Amino acid sequence: MNDATQIVTEDLDTICHALAAELTHMAGKSVMITGGAGFLGYYLVQSLLHFNTRSPSTPISVSVYDNFSRGLPDWLNNLSGNPHLKLVKHDITHPLPADFPDFDFIIHAASIASPIYYRKHPIETMDANVNGLRQLLDHCLERVRTGRKPIEGFLFYSTSEIYGDPTPENIPTPETYRGNVSCTGPRACYDESKRYGETLCVNFAQVHGLPIKTARPFNNYGPGLKITDGRVLPDMARDILAGRDIVMLSDGSPTRTFCYITDAIVGYLKILVRGRPGEAYNVGVETPEISMADLAETLVRLAAELFGYKGHVVRGVSADKNYLVDNPNRRCPDIRKARSELDFAPATRLEDGLRRMLVWYAANQSSGGEEK
Ligand SMILES: NC(=O)c1ccc[n+]([C@@H]2O[C@H](COP(=O)([O-])OP(=O)(O)OC[C@H]3O[C@@H](n4cnc5c(N)ncnc54)[C@H](O)[C@@H]3O)[C@@H](O)[C@H]2O)c1
Repeated sequence: MNDATQIVTEDLDTICHALAAELTHMAGKSVMITGGAGFLGYYLVQSLLHFNTRSPSTPISVSVYDNFSRGLPDWLNNLSGNPHLKLVKHDITHPLPADFPDFDFIIHAASIASPIYYRKHPIETMDANVNGLRQLLDHCLERVRTGRKPIEGFLFYSTSEIYGDPTPENIPTPETYRGNVSCTGPRACYDESKRYGETLCVNFAQVHGLPIKTARPFNNYGPGLKITDGRVLPDMARDILAGRDIVMLSDGSPTRTFCYITDAIVGYLKILVRGRPGEAYNVGVETPEISMADLAETLVRLAAELFGYKGHVVRGVSADKNYLVDNPNRRCPDIRKARSELDFAPATRLEDGLRRMLVWYAANQSSGGEEK
């Protein structure tokens, strides 16, 4: 087993251990994941299948519905022979197929999530977050109305971006903060469609009594996130692995907290199984809130230790003129709600997670599919 494979295997063990109760509850049931070919899908799908290897008598059946807009990734293609995994090429903004099964759990993760891609495809981004979500919610309602098996849990992926650029007194940001968001700026297609998606979820839960829950992820990172994705950490990793200086595309002052993927996945599946209907939960870490300049310097140091990297941090300007428009200055969650209601307890230290990420990228530099 190479280092990168070992990291993923350890991560899957960590996730299954932390989710022992929730996965046992899901055993023998069916889960459908839209957007399961993406970054979060990488661990969502593999964690459920990993659980099956530990609990072979009551496997979880996993179905991925994805339009593979950025290609069918190798990791998913390699899993296509797994008897508990079904891959369906489907655009979630289109009507659901006539043979769409009555899954026990639905996770709606299909969206264009990277700023450089959602600015290129704003209408498709809004359609997946609003129309795609609506198709799935209507399907759940139809099941109740026609006396079929009701859905047991539904998870909608919102985002920390629904808070926009929070005012300083609202950092760390609790779920009750209403946001400071532009409805017409270059990020609005994403932020506002997630906000409306949340409104749909709350009202379907309240009006129809459906078990719809929402996650608000704060900057996840780790294995599975394509190096070509355009988010800050893969961009910096790409510079490092190419042996060139890290190009920082801002003045380095914006701050973020970064949540390693294992912690995040544990949070999401806890929300799916145990979250309260109609409620949204922040999923992230409260510390360290790190500036982009410090993050880049940390990566330089870790890469020097791991690979003998000799580069430096330099300033650059993105070719995308909207790269920094409406970019939040600070982003840091208040996660007390998930801690108290779901026993969410993220544990990965930033430097440990960054090391794991760099080692994984060193072995996984191909994007694994065609970019649009
Ligand atoms: N990763 C993060 O840190 C983060 C942060 C905030 C929110 N989110 C949200 O979590 C979800 C998953 O994020 P990710 O990082 O895995 O994104 P990703 O871009 O890696 O994956 C998204 C997947 O959705 C698919 N998709 C896009 N539009 C589709 C459509 N119309 N029909 C079917 N499939 C479609 C893509 O092909 C891709 O496989 C998204 O809703 C995203 O907005 C993620």
